Amino acid sequence: MKITKAVIPAAGLGTRMLPISRAVPKEVLPIVDKPAIAYLVEEAANSGITDVLIITGRNKGAMEDYFDYSPEYEAKLISSGKESWIPGLREICDKVNVTFLRQKETKGLGHAILRARAFTGNEPFCVLYGDDIIFSETPVSKQLIDAYEKYGKAVAGIKEVTPEQILKYSSMDAKLLEGNIYRIDTMIEKPKPEQVYTNFSILGRVLLTPDIYDILENTPLGAGNELQLTDAMKTLSETVGMTGVDFEGKRYDLGSKLGLMMANVERAVVHEEIGEQFREYLKEYVKTL
Ligand code: UTP
Repeated sequence: MKITKAVIPAAGLGTRMLPISRAVPKEVLPIVDKPAIAYLVEEAANSGITDVLIITGRNKGAMEDYFDYSPEYEAKLISSGKESWIPGLREICDKVNVTFLRQKETKGLGHAILRARAFTGNEPFCVLYGDDIIFSETPVSKQLIDAYEKYGKAVAGIKEVTPEQILKYSSMDAKLLEGNIYRIDTMIEKPKPEQVYTNFSILGRVLLTPDIYDILENTPLGAGNELQLTDAMKTLSETVGMTGVDFEGKRYDLGSKLGLMMANVERAVVHEEIGEQFREYLKEYVKTL
């Protein structure tokens, strides 16, 4: 079945981004000149996705405006002879249908995904975690879709992390199948040192089959008294099995201040408009550190 739908859970409160998250949703914080969420929707669109559902919450309305035409700016651009800018601004709105649904209560990533049931129906779908921006040659969601088409099972985007990080993330019981493809037999969220299977963790992207919904309905609340998606994927991997893709790409945690700044610096140095000047500035600046 062709994958055409994606879900982006983006309802989290963003506590790690306080104080800015009191005024601005972390998803619209800029990476140079685009809101973080735009990079996720672009990745989905460039992976062949036509319909994206963003799970949001209160005070996140600013996200919606970005995926709509902007008549005020278009009128201004026409009157100032810059109408050539308009197709670029409209591109993301035309490429993909973006819809929004409120989670109403932030009861965890699993709870957020359950809200998508009516949207995805009986189709497999990609999940792009709202905090995780990944820059890569081939869009990561496309790398997962390719693995789904070949192996027919739900897919997790995985990467090796440090022994310290694995205790805070999830650990995969992953066995190499070929190249960068693994079979995942089970997994554990936030393992104790003696529970670590491998240092492979899920980082920001999964592709789920619709059987995840019944599993989620029957999964008890986990860490933090929230419905954890990893707990449901553990059941999925132990029953029908899952595939792991050690994806190509660099991930930034946009839910953290350090990740946001790293993504900004690394995008700014290659930015079409300001890249050259920013590189010059940065070279001088690092001399003073
Ligand atoms: P996090 O737990 O990292 O995000 O969830 P958070 O809750 O916003 O972070 P802090 O700890 O308060 O800073 C990972 C992803 O899942 C979404 C978040 O928006 C984020 O993209 N999420 C989390 C939901 O959509 N709903 C939830 O109930 C929880």
